[in-house]
Amino acid sequence: MRIDILTILPGMFVGPLEEGMIRKAREMGLVEINVVNIRDFTTDKHHVTDDYVFGGGPGMVMKAEPIIAAVEHSCRWSEGEGVNPRVILLSPSGEVFTQEMAVSLSSERHLVFICGRYEGVDERVRQTVMTDEVSIGDYVLTGGELPAMVITDAVVRLIPGVLNKEEAAEEESFSMGILEGPHYTRPREFRGMYVPEVLVSGNHQLIARWRRKEALRRTWHRRPEMLRDAVLSPLDRKLLAEIWLEEGAAEN
Ligand code: ADE
Repeated sequence: MRIDILTILPGMFVGPLEEGMIRKAREMGLVEINVVNIRDFTTDKHHVTDDYVFGGGPGMVMKAEPIIAAVEHSCRWSEGEGVNPRVILLSPSGEVFTQEMAVSLSSERHLVFICGRYEGVDERVRQTVMTDEVSIGDYVLTGGELPAMVITDAVVRLIPGVLNKEEAAEEESFSMGILEGPHYTRPREFRGMYVPEVLVSGNHQLIARWRRKEALRRTWHRRPEMLRDAVLSPLDRKLLAEIWLEEGAAEN
């Protein structure tokens, strides 16, 4: 996969793309990530990337020409490869990003992110090169740079070979659609708090059941609406019934 991130603040990406799993994925050649400075695609003497809003009003709007020139430059690669790029504009007006979208994007060959700043980008960017408009949530950030990093992170970890085999299997199977339950590591006792006995029992079947049940319990408490859409097995329903009884008992 190739990811091009178009921004006027390339310095913002220096840390996040050079650490941890993203760094590993890049070093393994599983993803190529290019941070592209939109300013390099200006043609005027002062390298201007923004301008006043037609019709008046506060703030500045990012100019269409340098952004479109940068996108077209990036897309020469996908043209050469014969693949369709996804050109994604980050903006608070976009479709809200989900894990499902991350899964869908992880099977693409070429992603191009356009990081908007100021009041937004000239509408003609939407009309020409953009294929998707994505928001990472209902709050307003100073620009699309952090959202581009968030989406890159969520997508890159799903590229085959980035997670190890066990992690990938867990991702694919039952962990999707509900929250993670509690995890413990050494020591077995810490400030009077103990690791649940079942986890050190060596009984793998009981451990799997306990983990699933506690993940369901956490979801039931924190995000009950997720249980409506989750794929639940007959055992899950049995565990939820147990939880319902236990929690009801705890309340009274
Ligand atoms: N730009 C500013 N806020 C944003 C958000 N929430 N998502 C995507 N891009 C943005």
